[in-house]
Amino acid sequence: MRNYDIEFLKHFSMVIAFLVVVTLGLILGAMWLHSDRAVAAEDAIEGGVEARLQPYGAVYAGETGAAALAAAAEAARAAAAAQVAYGGTEDGSVIYGNLCGACHDSGAGGAPKMEQAAWAARIGKGEETLIKHAIEGFQGEAGLMPARGGNPSLTDAQVAATVKWMLGNLQ
Ligand code: HEC
Repeated sequence: MRNYDIEFLKHFSMVIAFLVVVTLGLILGAMWLHSDRAVAAEDAIEGGVEARLQPYGAVYAGETGAAALAAAAEAARAAAAAQVAYGGTEDGSVIYGNLCGACHDSGAGGAPKMEQAAWAARIGKGEETLIKHAIEGFQGEAGLMPARGGNPSLTDAQVAATVKWMLGNLQ
């Protein structure tokens, strides 16, 4: 080999060696920086990804899943219905005070207030109809009366007693 080839190889290997040192330095530096950061556990990451993959607003359960959703809703309804509302009392004033008054005291949402004038036309429908509407819910011109005042655990008898109490206590 000629002299300048040796000279070149010398310089070239020095450059390579320098680059190797820089590379190792960068690797070690990156490892050192990284060791400071807590990395979220795998589970948390996977959970987050799964959550972000859900359709907006609801879980699409597909055609077969619809049956599962319906079953879950039915189970929830049955569980709610199995609860005993207000200790099972059939004292209309208690149920009214706890639930119905929220709308019927103030007239919220178009609910008829506890005044004769507001009820005269309704009483004309007959008590049975009013009770039926209170149990099943009723969409009238004034607004929406929710089924059982919105508490599915009320029994028919409790709702009927409350309607009777209301009719007997109009101002
Ligand atoms: C979220 C508000 C709300 C609650 C709570 C509520 N009501 Fe009503 N209720 C209404 C509205 C609004 C109407 C009027 C509907 C219409 O005629 O447009 C109504 C109407 C009625 C009527 C007359 C139905 C008819 O056929 O004219 C009865 C009876 C009645 N409610 C009983 C009850 C009883 C009993 C409760 C408690 C168990 C109750 N309501 C709780 C909003 C409510």
